[in-house]
Amino acid sequence: MKKYLVILGATALLAGCTTEKEVKDSESAAHSMHDSKHYTNDQHALKDNTGEQDLSYPPLLKPTSKKGNAVEYELTAQKGQMIFKDGVKTNTYGYNGDFLGPSLQLIKGQQVTIKLTNKLDENTTFHWHGLEIAGDVDGGPHAEIKPGETKIIQFTVNQDAATLWYHPHPMGNTAPQVFKGLAGLLYIDDEESNALSLPNDYAVNDFPIILQDRQFVKGKLQYEDVANTMSTLGDTMMINGIVNPKMTVKNGQIRLRILNGSNARPYNLHFNNDMAFSLIATDGGLKDKAAKMTSLYLGAGERAEIIVDLAAVKENTLQLMDSATTLLPIQITGKAKKATTLAKNLKTAEQSKTYADLEPTKKITLEGTSKELLLNGKKYDMDRIDFKQEHGKTEVWEIENILNDEGAMAHPFHIHGTQFTVVSVNGEEPDESMTGLKDTITIQPNQKIRIAVSFPEKGLYMFHCHILEHEDAGMMGQIDVY
Ligand code: C2O
Ligand code: CU
Ligand code: CU
Repeated sequence: MKKYLVILGATALLAGCTTEKEVKDSESAAHSMHDSKHYTNDQHALKDNTGEQDLSYPPLLKPTSKKGNAVEYELTAQKGQMIFKDGVKTNTYGYNGDFLGPSLQLIKGQQVTIKLTNKLDENTTFHWHGLEIAGDVDGGPHAEIKPGETKIIQFTVNQDAATLWYHPHPMGNTAPQVFKGLAGLLYIDDEESNALSLPNDYAVNDFPIILQDRQFVKGKLQYEDVANTMSTLGDTMMINGIVNPKMTVKNGQIRLRILNGSNARPYNLHFNNDMAFSLIATDGGLKDKAAKMTSLYLGAGERAEIIVDLAAVKENTLQLMDSATTLLPIQITGKAKKATTLAKNLKTAEQSKTYADLEPTKKITLEGTSKELLLNGKKYDMDRIDFKQEHGKTEVWEIENILNDEGAMAHPFHIHGTQFTVVSVNGEEPDESMTGLKDTITIQPNQKIRIAVSFPEKGLYMFHCHILEHEDAGMMGQIDVY
């Protein structure tokens, strides 16, 4: 077993890092195509999805109580068993079930109570990725729940419609727990977005798509067998917990809410016929205006909502691709209804201030190769406060992905408790895929990205690389928001 790990480690070294020359080459390449080459000589290159199973969707979580604006839910992290492939049973984790978790659908303005129970044999936390809530309910590494314990948290939903997610965040142990199955979607709805006549029938024309690559060993899913400190990658695509899924949809307009819930792998999403789709939302919710595009880069932890008009497809199957690999065959049935035209303005653009002239008040360097995984030259320390910022005040942060003598690799940088906006990328204006509210942004090798950050609530929040192995290895810091 030891030997196996060492070999994998060496492979990922080749796969995960770029040389100086490659970095220069990739700088000139389009942003959307950046990362694929980092993984081209990867032993765990993704295999085409053969589409043997029907895609299913996580159930919607029913509240245990609902009175007016107050709503209560229960979530339990528990052990399970699944058969993913070859009829082999494998141990898993899940929320309220064997694998992954139900989708929580919250409404802006709701007062939410969630009863959290840990039925695992190890500590865990419940982190709400993208929610703008107080630090003490955010579920970072300080909020561990011990086996057998229950904790109740409360918060008010104070942000616009968005596709967020939840996952564990225990100290140094996030990657294995997510890999084993702990992750779920968290939707926020609001009146403004419901009035837009966007497709919003859950699993009818509005589909959750959780992308996770996994490596099976003899049909079993065991993190310890395939763990790689640089990036745990898998050759098998799993969508919503289904291996080799095929999606069947009615002709017309569909909305895909895509979460890159992978431990490390980024995706260059596009369709096999290279058709255009409309990006309507980024991590933190709707964009001011939809953006037409033909490909989209999603790093680990990032989300996107897209509208696809199937009436424009001649064939009866379409394929969602990652570079040259088939991620998801989409079977189209029935006659097309006339597509509703997308509203011109999705969001009443708030008086957007320009932060382009502001000098950054916080600077962060990311340095990550097999040699070192560091944030600002340091490893995370639970007892060290790295930054302070006043709540409600906007500051410009500059994040830079620096090279060491081994090169560099892309790092998806995430901040808890806030939705930020991208101010500039290497001094230039961000492209459409980065415009809008974000909580995770991929910083490519040698890139410098400035973001405008404001925390509406107070408390202690994490910021880190969302490659979960990098987070666990200490590529993380914490900020005290007062
Ligand atoms: Cu999605 Cu600190 O994580
Ligand atoms: Cu988070
Ligand atoms: Cu990283």
